[in-house]
Amino acid sequence: MAEFRLPPNSRITKGKHFPAAAASGNVRRFVVYRYDPSTGENPRMDTYEIDMDACGPMVLDALIKIKNEIDPTLTFRRSCREGICGSCAMNVDGRNTLACTAPADSIKGDVKIYPLPHMGVVKDLVPDLTNFYAQYASIKPWLQTRTPAPPDQERLQSKEDQELIDEPAACILCACCSTSCPSYWWNSDRYLGPAALLAAYRWLVDSRDEATGERLDDLEDPFRLYRCHTIMNCTNTCPKNLNPAKAIAETKKMLAERRH
Ligand code: SF4
Ligand code: SF4
Ligand code: FES
Repeated sequence: MAEFRLPPNSRITKGKHFPAAAASGNVRRFVVYRYDPSTGENPRMDTYEIDMDACGPMVLDALIKIKNEIDPTLTFRRSCREGICGSCAMNVDGRNTLACTAPADSIKGDVKIYPLPHMGVVKDLVPDLTNFYAQYASIKPWLQTRTPAPPDQERLQSKEDQELIDEPAACILCACCSTSCPSYWWNSDRYLGPAALLAAYRWLVDSRDEATGERLDDLEDPFRLYRCHTIMNCTNTCPKNLNPAKAIAETKKMLAERRH
């Protein structure tokens, strides 16, 4: 991953300017981070002028228009286009969010778009999520049981127990939270970060899971869990309005109660 590290911002240069094709009263400027590590060149900011009367309302609509009609070399991830897959997460106007649910008209002035911060960059707006996914896998995000399943039905849980996992299970693994967390920026090699910790919590509170003790043992570590200093950036930025900071606090409480 080291060769893809984002160079310091001071080395970002002014890039190309793509003026709007035709005069229109509704032109917006999108200033987009461009970087291809394979070229050895510094990152640059390219400026694209878009006629919003001929473009969908979301930031992702503008990026797709740029790629289709102006500059096919621009690289970004996207799939569902409706806030479900998590792949279009990026930093828009200083905030980590999903480009497909971010209306361009909610942003004043130029729309500045960077990749998620403090991650390696594969190309342009595509961050290297290898470590992020490995951390997710490390919390064993699947049901672990010791007792045999009932022969004639699924493992059932009450409505109340099911509701405990509703919110944490709604995470789309977009990484907006982890890449907004200062503790994660400086310790992402050892601190799991809010997304993986929210996923860990989802299994800790699942009434059907029978590995709660082992799951807590795995988290009882000065770095994996306790690097969270309750700064709350994660919860403030989550585009799905989830609350990873609360899940982390609840997990710390479960560990504290286990000690007494
Ligand atoms: S908690 Fe929210 S911000 Fe974090 S990965 Fe899940 S959906 Fe994205
Ligand atoms: S509450 Fe914890 S996980 Fe969330 S941003 Fe702050 S330090 Fe990071
Ligand atoms: S494209 Fe799927 S969340 Fe944005």
